[in-house]
Amino acid sequence: MSVQGSTFTQRISNVAKRLDGDASEVWEVHDKACAMADNGEDVLLLSVGDPDLDTHPDTINHVIDRLREGRTHYSPSSGEDSLRRIIADVEDRSARRPCSVDEVLIFPGATNAIYAVMRTLLNEGDEVILAEPMYIGYHGIFDSIGAKQVRIPLNAADNFSLDMEKLKASVTEKTKVIFINTPGNPAGNMLSEAELRELADFSYRNNIWLVSDEVYSMITFKERHTSLRKAAEHLDNIIVIDGLSKSHAMTGWRMGWTVAPESISKHLLNFSASTVFGCCQFVQDAAAYALQNDSAYMEEIRGEYQSRRDYVCQRVAAIPKLSCPTPDAGMFVMVDISQVAEDGQDFAHRLLDAQGVSVLPGIGFGEVTRNFVRISLAQPVEILEPAFDRIEGFINSLL
Ligand SMILES: Cc1ncc(COP(=O)(O)O)c(C=O)c1O
Repeated sequence: MSVQGSTFTQRISNVAKRLDGDASEVWEVHDKACAMADNGEDVLLLSVGDPDLDTHPDTINHVIDRLREGRTHYSPSSGEDSLRRIIADVEDRSARRPCSVDEVLIFPGATNAIYAVMRTLLNEGDEVILAEPMYIGYHGIFDSIGAKQVRIPLNAADNFSLDMEKLKASVTEKTKVIFINTPGNPAGNMLSEAELRELADFSYRNNIWLVSDEVYSMITFKERHTSLRKAAEHLDNIIVIDGLSKSHAMTGWRMGWTVAPESISKHLLNFSASTVFGCCQFVQDAAAYALQNDSAYMEEIRGEYQSRRDYVCQRVAAIPKLSCPTPDAGMFVMVDISQVAEDGQDFAHRLLDAQGVSVLPGIGFGEVTRNFVRISLAQPVEILEPAFDRIEGFINSLL
């Protein structure tokens, strides 16, 4: 390809080509809504996954002090030992089994941690089993590696629960990884301890890695999250990824980590050392402080999302022809629009044009949620209320 006005022929890698796929369709409504808002139009954004809540002020003050003390230098690629120790202690408590510092590695966000894990485990053409609907951000990771995604559709009528037999039946000799996300984005579904144990046993016996993205582990409503590390009998094939973006309203700080056996952490570290070369010292200080001083804040955040979820579910239930499974966790509610629109894409476009409310079309998360839209709880009830008044008005106008 030639750059316009230049005789230079731009040759790019296959990875860059694979990443050049067209994801714009999914974000079209959101991008349009943002442009409308920038133009001063009255738009309510329910399509964002970035918490409206701020990072706790004490964490910010702590980091300002640490910056003044000169915490602006290189940090080990594995992460600061003090932070790794704190995370290992959190793991000790949540999994009720010992976790060593050497099992913990720090990454600039869970996305980077997932990428490093998958890059370390998978070759082009290897198969990874995932449940659908799934987080949009996974596509780029697997596309760049050239791994084949084998998707297990979850049943919406069954609150997006996992069909274990279907999953087991989809394993082939090319399956190298089973990748789970619990609690899940977008469906807010959670795997039970028994399901996690069964998956762990199955993958261990079949020589398959079992990797769990648990970034919503702290935002649970019905019961507390069970970590895969707690449920699994053997940890040799188990990798857990977590971070502070969602739980501590710290998306912009870029903080995530892996908990993995030392034998594979060594390879993860090689990859991270040659791509990231260590996270910011002061961001790690922030993470350490946040994790050590978070119990009251965690309760506050959990309570806030729960009341938003309750509000949204109650409003959806009161609107004719809309319905939603009640999510057990996370920051989103999936609304079934099959009775009022062709599909989620059609609904989202028309809702934005008619009422200035943006929601994400479910197709972005997989075919199984084509007739859904995702409502984000990353807005306060003061925004959710007028947004739902408008959604109600829109549905009434259709009927
Ligand atoms: C399931 C899931 N995993 C990972 C991420 C990204 O986390 P981070 O901000 O730590 O990269 C998100 C963000 O929306 C997510 O929903």
